[in-house]
Amino acid sequence: MSLKLQNGTRLVAATHNPGKAVEIAALLDGRFDIVSAGDLGLPEPDEIEQTFMGNALLKARAAADRAGLVAIADDSGLSVAALDGAPGIFSARWAGPDKDFGHAMKKVEERLEEVGSGDRAAWFTSALAVAWPDGPCVVVEGRVDGTLVFPPRGERGFGYDPIFLPEGRDQTFGEMDPAEKDALSHRARAFEKLKAALFE
Ligand code: IMP
Repeated sequence: MSLKLQNGTRLVAATHNPGKAVEIAALLDGRFDIVSAGDLGLPEPDEIEQTFMGNALLKARAAADRAGLVAIADDSGLSVAALDGAPGIFSARWAGPDKDFGHAMKKVEERLEEVGSGDRAAWFTSALAVAWPDGPCVVVEGRVDGTLVFPPRGERGFGYDPIFLPEGRDQTFGEMDPAEKDALSHRARAFEKLKAALFE
């Protein structure tokens, strides 16, 4: 079978977040007919794997097999070198049920103080998986390296953006023009790899 995706193919975005489904559709250049797992009433699987790729694959596989359609899923987060890669796959969970990233960024700062390391190296990872129903999967990962800054800087972006200074830049993701972030982000890099693998 071909692992290329033809324009107009119906794809399930394995997410219950309507904003994320729209973002995925745009990052795939509007080539596909995207429906979200939420729209199809599919259950949300527990993210029980230990890696970004593992969780992306698990979500794509579950949606593809349930829906009988090719599915795409992502998993992403911030990893801090001095914290052995934390929060990593737990990035969203560190913000708690209220999705309070002020709290999550504070927690990163406190953990760094606890370990007493001056190492501020960190990176964002985005894993993307595409699964065919009862068939193969393709998975790719994009990464952007940088350093952490405290206090947080900038009101733009989301999540941990205000504490992340990408390598070679003097503005955090929270200060940067969104188009500039989109040009170098982990997500953009992962989508480039996915498109190279799957587009005709
Ligand atoms: P996911 O939606 O389960 O993949 O969770 C990803 C979490 O990682 C988000 O809630 C953010 O906390 C964090 N994250 C991922 N990408 C970014 C980014 O580009 N900027 C800031 N935080 C991010």
